Amino acid sequence: MASGRCDRGDEGRRSAGDSSACGRNRARVRPEEAGESMTWNPQAYGLVLLTLVVSVLVSILVFAVLRFMAAARNSRRRAKEGGEMALLSEALHDAVAKLREQERAMAARAEASERLSGEIISSLTAGLLVVDLNAQIRILNPAGRRMLEVPDSAPLDNYRTLLAEPLTKMIDECLASRRPIRRRTVNVEGSHSANHFGVTVSPLFDQTGTLHGAICLFSDLTAVKDLEQQLRLKESLAAVGELTAGIAHEFRNGLATIHGYSQLIDLQELPPRYQPYVEGIRAETVFLTQVVTNFLNFARPAQLSLSPVDLRSVCERAADEIRPDARALGGDIELRGQFGTLEGDEVLLRQAFSNLLRNAVEACAGHSVPPLVVIESEVDRNQSVSKISVNDSGPGIEPASRERIFRPFFTSKRNGTGLGLAVVQKIIVFHNGRIAVGGAPQGGASLQIMLPMMQDESV
Ligand SMILES: Nc1ncnc2c1ncn2[C@@H]1O[C@H](COP(=O)(O)OP(=O)(O)OP(=O)(O)O)[C@@H](O)[C@H]1O
Ligand SMILES: [Mg+2]
Repeated sequence: MASGRCDRGDEGRRSAGDSSACGRNRARVRPEEAGESMTWNPQAYGLVLLTLVVSVLVSILVFAVLRFMAAARNSRRRAKEGGEMALLSEALHDAVAKLREQERAMAARAEASERLSGEIISSLTAGLLVVDLNAQIRILNPAGRRMLEVPDSAPLDNYRTLLAEPLTKMIDECLASRRPIRRRTVNVEGSHSANHFGVTVSPLFDQTGTLHGAICLFSDLTAVKDLEQQLRLKESLAAVGELTAGIAHEFRNGLATIHGYSQLIDLQELPPRYQPYVEGIRAETVFLTQVVTNFLNFARPAQLSLSPVDLRSVCERAADEIRPDARALGGDIELRGQFGTLEGDEVLLRQAFSNLLRNAVEACAGHSVPPLVVIESEVDRNQSVSKISVNDSGPGIEPASRERIFRPFFTSKRNGTGLGLAVVQKIIVFHNGRIAVGGAPQGGASLQIMLPMMQDESV
């Protein structure tokens, strides 16, 4: 219909062919409508402005929210990362602390084991010596120092210059052969006497089998050797005593008879040419009686009457006995040092020291030197012995004769019986001591005696 109204059906048709009327109407109406709507009032402006402001605010808000969320996400991530780092550092810290703890425990263990080995080495009663290939002494324990008489101040840079030859030879032999040498007995000359050592030397290899030096273990067998010697001596003295004491006794009786008869001969009644023979018989019987008496003293089974004996008073009394002879020759007898006490036979011990002092004075007199005799004593509480030396200013005793002077009948004197030192040795041995000979500081002989002390004195 051409009423001017265009419904949707018309519009459909118009679009098919007759579009002009409605389309034109519409085109006509719109500018009016548009002219109406284009008329912007302040509310519209306000609305638009408000809308704009709101949208800007919304945008800002959205942007801020997004930023905030991103920041929150970042901080969560950082917090998470931070937590992991802290965990890691804590674990690391723990591990380091544990390592330190282990290190401390290991150091403590090493220190304890070093201390223990040090204690073992210094408590060993045997001597321990370790040397390296440069001849340097790496270890020498206190017992070893004592036995080898090495002072604490001695430099340990060369064992060959420090130790006695028998020991250095053994070490050199072991190093050369790279094989152990087991339980060899060697004699080492000490300041006081010769010592017997039982020595074992072993080569010292490292884990790779390289030779580094040698370990030397030694113990002092002197006491054992002395005991053996004492036993042998006691046995042989007992045998000699039993065998010969009876004969000697008969001898002495016969000598007394000869001497008695010779005394009965009146020299004045004899022709002068016989007088010297009788005098000779008398002198010889006196001498022989002296020899036999000495021999009987020596051979008689030793029966000690024991009591506590103060060695100083024994030596003083022996010195008092011989001093007049020493002084007559322009000398003297002196006592020096510390003297111990022992369980012994005072009479026999005095006889022993008298014999030694008489020998010293006689030796000096034989060489026309004033006898300066010193009895020097020291007490060794470690070994619980008294060490006494009788030193003189005489000619001394040749090393070659030192072994023989204790044998019965060994003498260099025209009127000597050669029994004085045999008796001394017997007395000392029966007191469980020992006697040796060496050189004295005054240039003469030094007779060195070791006697065990009484138990409560040695503590
Ligand atoms: N102090 C000494 N200095 C040098 N030689 C000594 C000393 N003591 C002992 N002798 C030597 O030892 C030897 C043996 O001494 P020993 O006392 O046994 O016998 P003697 O003195 O010769 O005789 P006797 O003691 O019977 O008179 C002596 O002859 C002497 O050669
Ligand atoms: Mg003598």
